[in-house]
Amino acid sequence: MHVAGTPYRTIWPSDTDSAIVKIIDQRFLPHRFVIEELRTVAEVCTAIREMHVRGAGLIGATAAFGMHLAALTAPEHDFTPFIQEAAKDLVQTRPTAGNLAWAVNRQLAAIERENTLAAKRAKAFALACEIADEDAEFCRRIGEHGKEIIARLSRKKNGAPVNILTHCNAGWLAFVDYGSATAPIYAAHAEGIRVHVWVDETRPWLQGAKLTAWELKGEGVPHTLIADNTGGHLMQHGMVDMVIVGTDRTTRCGDVANKIGTYLKALAALDNGVPFYVALPSSTFDWTVRDGLSEIPIEQRSGREITHIEGLSETDALTTIAIAPPDTPTLNYGFDVTPARLITGLISERGVMAADEEDILRLYPEHRQKPA
Ligand code: MRU
Repeated sequence: MHVAGTPYRTIWPSDTDSAIVKIIDQRFLPHRFVIEELRTVAEVCTAIREMHVRGAGLIGATAAFGMHLAALTAPEHDFTPFIQEAAKDLVQTRPTAGNLAWAVNRQLAAIERENTLAAKRAKAFALACEIADEDAEFCRRIGEHGKEIIARLSRKKNGAPVNILTHCNAGWLAFVDYGSATAPIYAAHAEGIRVHVWVDETRPWLQGAKLTAWELKGEGVPHTLIADNTGGHLMQHGMVDMVIVGTDRTTRCGDVANKIGTYLKALAALDNGVPFYVALPSSTFDWTVRDGLSEIPIEQRSGREITHIEGLSETDALTTIAIAPPDTPTLNYGFDVTPARLITGLISERGVMAADEEDILRLYPEHRQKPA
């Protein structure tokens, strides 16, 4: 998408030196636009763990480039153990996002198939670029499929703005480009369909307030930032036409793990007859998992994300302040699971499907083989 009119992706290899991978450091948005250079797999692990990059699709693409950097820096005599250690370190950075292990395992298999050191390194770089391109293309297609749903609602409203609520940031910053939940919104907006987005601020990390609001402003999409607890009230008063969120991991039966608070939005949507859609590239499916509640690991993060808040002071300095009494006990789950029964539909690069195993397999028949 665009930053001040210039097209950007969230991750790309340096033009002049493929040993340097560049990312937008999202910790500083919306106040500063900072590009960080990553040169080692350790730097990539830090960038993922400490959320310089975040969002399932981008975490996967970054891990793929991490494997490329690992292959480049691995000593010839110790190549395989070095690569396997790098893979282990990368997978442990964030436990919930399904794309992380998916990208790392794809790299491991591809590297192993090559015979020479040079070929292994070339393959790891080519595959990292392929995974990034594929992520962007899949999100573009999600936009095309999801746009049709928005267009239908727009026709029903005789062209009045379609009010879409979203949670967290499943925008282009969470992927390589376009986003999952935002792709249909961008596609509809580009076609002249009137949309308006309710942006949940998304405590505690504030992905909505910091990232989604910044993205939508950059693309000129009308939007309003709301406190997390506002969505239910808006739905009760007919002010939300649909919800679209992303997912960090999706089971083969259609349960989704997404940013903490998503489940409550789904409950409120069901109670108010508001359609609740989840947008995802298929890299987010974990085909080995059936039951999201018992089988998806839920990341717990530092309580400091709850007790402190970061922002811009009146003198334009990036500042962290405490908002709770010192030593207040905290519990900070990063994600929750929304069961398939609360979901109106899943929007992927192959189309729209019901959140149930049969309909998912209609679009992904190659995964019909049940996990052991
Ligand atoms: O902790 P984050 O910012 O990495 O979590 C991201 C999310 O949960 C988003 O909601 C998004 O939907 C998933 S990104 C594909």
